[in-house]
Amino acid sequence: MEATKKVILDCDPGHDDALAIVLACAAEEIELLGITTVAGNQTVDKTTRNALRVLTLIGMEVPVARGAERPLIRELITAPEVHGESGLDGAELPEPAFGPREEHAVEFIVRAIRGSSAPVTLIPTGPLTNVALALRLAPDIARRIERIVLMGGAARESNVTPAAEFNIYVDPEAAHIVFTSGIPITMVGLDVTNRALFTPEEIAQLARGGPVRRTFAGLLEFYAAANERLLGIRGAPLHDPLAVAAVIDPGVLATEPLHVEVELCGVQTRGATVVDVYRVTRRPPNAEVALALDLARFKELMWRALERADRRG
Ligand code: BDR
Ligand code: CA
Repeated sequence: MEATKKVILDCDPGHDDALAIVLACAAEEIELLGITTVAGNQTVDKTTRNALRVLTLIGMEVPVARGAERPLIRELITAPEVHGESGLDGAELPEPAFGPREEHAVEFIVRAIRGSSAPVTLIPTGPLTNVALALRLAPDIARRIERIVLMGGAARESNVTPAAEFNIYVDPEAAHIVFTSGIPITMVGLDVTNRALFTPEEIAQLARGGPVRRTFAGLLEFYAAANERLLGIRGAPLHDPLAVAAVIDPGVLATEPLHVEVELCGVQTRGATVVDVYRVTRRPPNAEVALALDLARFKELMWRALERADRRG
C-alpha cells in the first residue's frame, strides 16, 4: 500500500462537495490537513458553514479555513438552482459544533504546505480562486505540491454553458493560473464525473441506512431532481468525490497526458477547457485528463465511506 497522502480539500459545499468531505475523512490513504472553502455553489459564508455542518454530522473535527469571497476578476456566480439557497438544501443538518480558523484559507494553504514534512496533494472541488491566490502569494509552494487533483472542466462536455463546466466558468483566470503553473495536475472533468452517478435506486437505498446515509438521501434527492430538471441527468452526479477517489485509488480513473488551455476571452466560450485530445497543437501536456472511470470501484469507495461515517457519526 502507498504511504498516506497529505491532502488539503478546497471546496464549496455544495451537495457533491459534502460527499467529497465524507470520502476524504473516511479514507485511511489520506491525511486530511484541512478543508478550505471558497465562494462558488453559494457565498463563502454559506459554503464555510456547510463544511462545518457536514463535519459535525459525521463527527469529525478537521481545521476549516474560510477563503475567497469572489473570483479574481469576475463577479461571483452561484448555483442556487442546483444546490438551493443554503447551498445544501434537501435535509436538516446539525448546527456547526465548532468554528473556522482565524486565518484565511489562502494563508492556511501556504502555511500547511510550507510546514508539511512531505509534499501535499491539493484537491480543489470548487472555483480555483484560493489555489491561484496561494500560488501568487507564495510561489515557493509550487515545488512542495505533489499534485493538484481538481474537479473541473471537460474535454467534450459542459454543464453551465454549452462550452463550460461550472468551477472553471466561475473563475477562469484562477483556472488559467493553475493550468499554467507547471504543477502536476489531474483534471477530473465532466467526461467522467457525469458518469459517476448515484441512481435513484441507490439514493433510496441510502434512505434505509443510518442517520448520515439518511441525511445524504434527502440531500441527493434534492440534487438529483435539480440535475434532472436542468440537464436531463437521471441520478446524482458525484463530481467532487470522484476527485477525492482518484487520490485514494488512482485506478478509479484512466487518464491521458494532454494540453489544456482555459478560454478567457471567448464571448460564447468563457471558461471552456480547450483540451487538445488529438494532440494537434503538439504543445506539451500540462494535465492528466480523466477520460474513463471504473464506476464499480468508485462506488465501492463511496459506500464504504458512508457506512464508516454512520458508524462514527
Ligand atoms: C461542479 O460544480 C458544482 O456545482 C459542483 O459542486 C461541482 O464541483 C460540477 O460542475
Ligand atoms: Ca464543488
